[in-house]
Amino acid sequence: MKAAVYYENGPPGVFKYEDVEDPACLPEGILIDVEAVSIEGGDTLNRARGELATVPHIVGYQAAGTIVEVGEKVTNFKPGQRVTTVNMHGSHAEKRSVFAQTAWAVPDGMDIRTASAIPVPFGTAHDCLFEFGRLKEGETVLIQAGASAVGLAAIQLAKRAGATVIATASSAEKLDRLREYGMDHGINYKTQDLVAEAMRLTDNRGVDLVVDPVGGPTLQKSILALGYRGRVSTVGDAGREDALMDLSTLRAGNRSITGVFLGAEIFTDRVYRNIEKMIAEIAKGELKVVLDKSFALKDAAAAHEYIESRKAFGRVTLTP
Ligand SMILES: NC(=O)c1ccc[n+]([C@@H]2O[C@H](COP(=O)([O-])OP(=O)(O)OC[C@H]3O[C@@H](n4cnc5c(N)ncnc54)[C@H](OP(=O)(O)O)[C@@H]3O)[C@@H](O)[C@H]2O)c1
Repeated sequence: MKAAVYYENGPPGVFKYEDVEDPACLPEGILIDVEAVSIEGGDTLNRARGELATVPHIVGYQAAGTIVEVGEKVTNFKPGQRVTTVNMHGSHAEKRSVFAQTAWAVPDGMDIRTASAIPVPFGTAHDCLFEFGRLKEGETVLIQAGASAVGLAAIQLAKRAGATVIATASSAEKLDRLREYGMDHGINYKTQDLVAEAMRLTDNRGVDLVVDPVGGPTLQKSILALGYRGRVSTVGDAGREDALMDLSTLRAGNRSITGVFLGAEIFTDRVYRNIEKMIAEIAKGELKVVLDKSFALKDAAAAHEYIESRKAFGRVTLTP
């Protein structure tokens, strides 16, 4: 099969489009013909500085397509069925092998690009808000990187749970578009003082919860934007800078910070059912997946470059 691979970390130019061996179907797994690859924030980070599981490495958490083989221990899927899948790597390829426990059936009529972009961002956003963030109706939440896939999912989920939603982004254009998904107030963190704005928007009370996929120096600002008993769900390092924090700033307001990693619980029934439910809600139009450009798999470098130009709004995908 063809795959977009790299032999070393670096800028998007490290991608090579090569012939590699087809992956084997595991007894507990399925093998799919990939029809859409959703490029995750974690994929661009892995290319830039992450671990290479093999050399060459095929990056990628999420891809959707059609099952071509089913492992002998799998009873709930059959060849020909459309699924969306998650694995630690291997999405940037024509075929991928995953455990059946991290595959979800694609509802009839759902576009395969949409399906490819659901499990990780929606599962993660839901956990950041509810499982670990303990968000309640009437609270105020600040979503950092609102125009990221995790951010767009979190904005919608928080709004429908009855929260007031503040979001940040790097441009006025992105903030304007976020209103459509439920954002009440936007903060342009390039031109505005994030903490002062969060305080102004909450009459100096501070927010109840921050979802922070950016990390680095932003994480300290997330803590300082909290009100009494406020919580931060720290979920990523999209900003690509080291986090320098003064944890003593949590103490005065009985504030807390919790790490969130979907991968640590993705094999649980709780996460599986939660993602399955959100796939059904997306099929009914109750939640929306925001898609940006699609590139050919052979142009993975250009796709990663486009994401890193900060112009993308929602998910960029690849088509083998
Ligand atoms: N822990 C978990 O389980 C988990 C699960 C999913 C994702 N994540 C992490 O969460 C983060 C977001 O993931 P995603 O898939 O939602 O990402 P994404 O859709 O690719 O969006 C990344 C966002 O980060 C912002 N950003 C800030 N600094 C950036 C930089 N130097 N380069 C590129 N973008 C930058 C950009 O928004 P602005 O231009 O508006 O700043 C962009 O919209 C990633 O770090 C990812 O690894 C973690």
